[in-house]
Amino acid sequence: MSQVSLCDVTKIYPNGTKAVSRLNLGVESREFMVLVGPSGCGKTTVLRMIAGLEDLTEGKIYIGKYLVNDTPPRARDVAMVFQNYALYPYLNVYENMGFGLKLRGYPVPEIEKRVKEAAAILEISSIMHRRPYELSGGERQRVAVGRAIVRKPLVFLFDEPLSNLDANLRTQMRTEIHRLHSRLRTTMIYVTHDQLEAMTLGDRIAIMNNGSILQTDLPMSLYKNPSNKFVAGFIGSPPMNFIEGSIVKKQEKLYFDEGSFQVKVSEASRQALVDYVNKKLTLGIRPEDIYDRLFVSDVPPENSLKAFLEVVESVGVESYLYLKTKRSSFIAKIPSSQKPGSNQDMELVFDMSKAHFFDKDTGRTIV
Ligand SMILES: Nc1ncnc2c1ncn2[C@@H]1O[C@H](COP(=O)(O)OP(=O)(O)OP(=O)(O)O)[C@@H](O)[C@H]1O
Ligand SMILES: [Mg+2]
Repeated sequence: MSQVSLCDVTKIYPNGTKAVSRLNLGVESREFMVLVGPSGCGKTTVLRMIAGLEDLTEGKIYIGKYLVNDTPPRARDVAMVFQNYALYPYLNVYENMGFGLKLRGYPVPEIEKRVKEAAAILEISSIMHRRPYELSGGERQRVAVGRAIVRKPLVFLFDEPLSNLDANLRTQMRTEIHRLHSRLRTTMIYVTHDQLEAMTLGDRIAIMNNGSILQTDLPMSLYKNPSNKFVAGFIGSPPMNFIEGSIVKKQEKLYFDEGSFQVKVSEASRQALVDYVNKKLTLGIRPEDIYDRLFVSDVPPENSLKAFLEVVESVGVESYLYLKTKRSSFIAKIPSSQKPGSNQDMELVFDMSKAHFFDKDTGRTIV
């Protein structure tokens, strides 16, 4: 059985907002599970229900083998790190970290031992006497994590713990959280709206939208095999391009017809698309699967197309090309060394073996 299980969990707030809708999630022991989704999709609500800070409207939550629906927060073996850290302003770092243990009646020597251990892990031993206002954002974040670690809980819950930090510190703390998980091997459920954070931290990732989980999978499986258009567009940066068109059949071969260009459907995708001949659908292709024709040899002409290059954005080793046809716009990601000139037509190649197709009405992945 999973360490944490949510079974058909629904949350409707008293004002009528349905924040979570029949959500199912199983988090394994020692797993680092990331819940990712756009603002307002219900992530914090899910964590607060696991922590016992919100009641469920329907469904069941198990922690370990216990049904905890009616268990008060303090009796659940979980520790939560909040987005705003929620440190006590009048207590110093040591007192902040030990406070939860003190409340639970731990003996002073045990509190001291645990706080010192956690401080050493987080490298904050030298600032134990300071109050929160005397700390940087990164240090506060560490204290908030320290306060959770000393509890030695069965499960850690993190609610966007890095969102108040600047970009450099975020990257650094991300690595530290990774290290922390390798060291403690405790089950962690980590909430973020940042897909990069999700991809780099998660053993598995659950993608949420509108109160539901759309797909739970290994990071690379989400990237390679998204089950629908929302997941496809959420993972990856710049995001996957979506191009509207239809499937046409010519001499037994299938083509995706955008209106101003056609590209041939790969053999592997052919069977799944037979039912879509002359029907509208959406092609999904990632920026990294589009190439400048000049740098690809042996391309069958049916995989190439012309588009107008409006803008070239260089971001170091890679450049993003903003391209346009009469009907659609899309982005290609190419090595910066290739330097195509902007404001002109260019010939491109779609790697159709990497293309995805989505049902126009449901957003479901066809292939
Ligand atoms: N106490 C509350 N009462 C009523 N509605 C609420 C309450 N808390 C949250 N909501 C609503 O529930 C929905 C989900 O909110 P939640 O805070 O779980 O989203 P989130 O995914 O954590 O968003 P963010 O990324 O912005 O933190 C939102 O529509 C929000 O407005
Ligand atoms: Mg939130």
